[in-house]
Amino acid sequence: MRQVDLDSGRIEVRQADITTLQVDAIVTAANAQLVGGGGVDGAVHQAAGPRLLDACRKIGGCETGSAVITMGYDLQDRGVQYVIHAVGPIWRGGEQNEEALLAEAYAKSLELADTHECQSVAFPSISTGVYGFPVERAAPIAIAEFRKFLSAGPTHLRRIVASLFDTRSLAAFEQALDRQASDP
Ligand code: APR
Repeated sequence: MRQVDLDSGRIEVRQADITTLQVDAIVTAANAQLVGGGGVDGAVHQAAGPRLLDACRKIGGCETGSAVITMGYDLQDRGVQYVIHAVGPIWRGGEQNEEALLAEAYAKSLELADTHECQSVAFPSISTGVYGFPVERAAPIAIAEFRKFLSAGPTHLRRIVASLFDTRSLAAFEQALDRQASDP
C-alpha cells in the first residue's frame, strides 16, 4: 500500500478486490446501459445482491463520462453505504476525447460521494479492462482528479482509495502517485 497525505485528506493506492474494502462508497466501472457486466462490475453486483441491478434498471442509464449513485444493498451489512456507477470511455486510440471523459467520470464520482457525505471512497481503475484504456495513461488522470478534488475546498471526503486488481495497474498507479506527490 502506498499513500499520500494532503492537508485535506489521504490518497491510498493498494492491491485489493474492491468489494472487500471498508469504505463508505465503492465505485464500479459500469456501462452506459447500467445493465451489469463482468470485471469489477460483476464483482460489485455479486457482492451487493440483485437489488443493485433493480436500482440500476430504474435509473435506466448513464452518459459516458458521468456517474450515478445507488444504495449499497447487501454491501451495507459491511458498512458500504453506496455504490457509484461510473461510466468511463471505451478507448478508441485516444483521439475521441477519451482522456477528458475519463477525468469527468472520476470527477463526477467524487462529487457524488461528497454530496452523499461519504468520508471514504474506493475506485477501481475505470476503463482499463474491457474498455481498453491504457492503464499507464489512465493512472495519472485518476490521481490528478483525486488531488484536484481534495485540494478544491471543503469536502466530506477524507480518504480516497485506488483499489487495483493486478500488479501492472498497481505499478502504474503507484508511479502516478509518486510523480504527482512533489507537485505543488
Ligand atoms: N476489484 C478491483 N478491481 C477489479 C476487480 C475487483 N473485484 N475486478 C476487476 N477489476 C479491475 C480489472 O482488472 C481492470 O483493471 O478493474 C479494472 C477495470 O476493468 P473492467 O471491469 O473491465 O472495466 P472497464 O474497462 O471500465 O469496462 C467496463 O466492462 O464489465 C463490463 O459492465 C462493464 O461494460 C462495462 C465494461
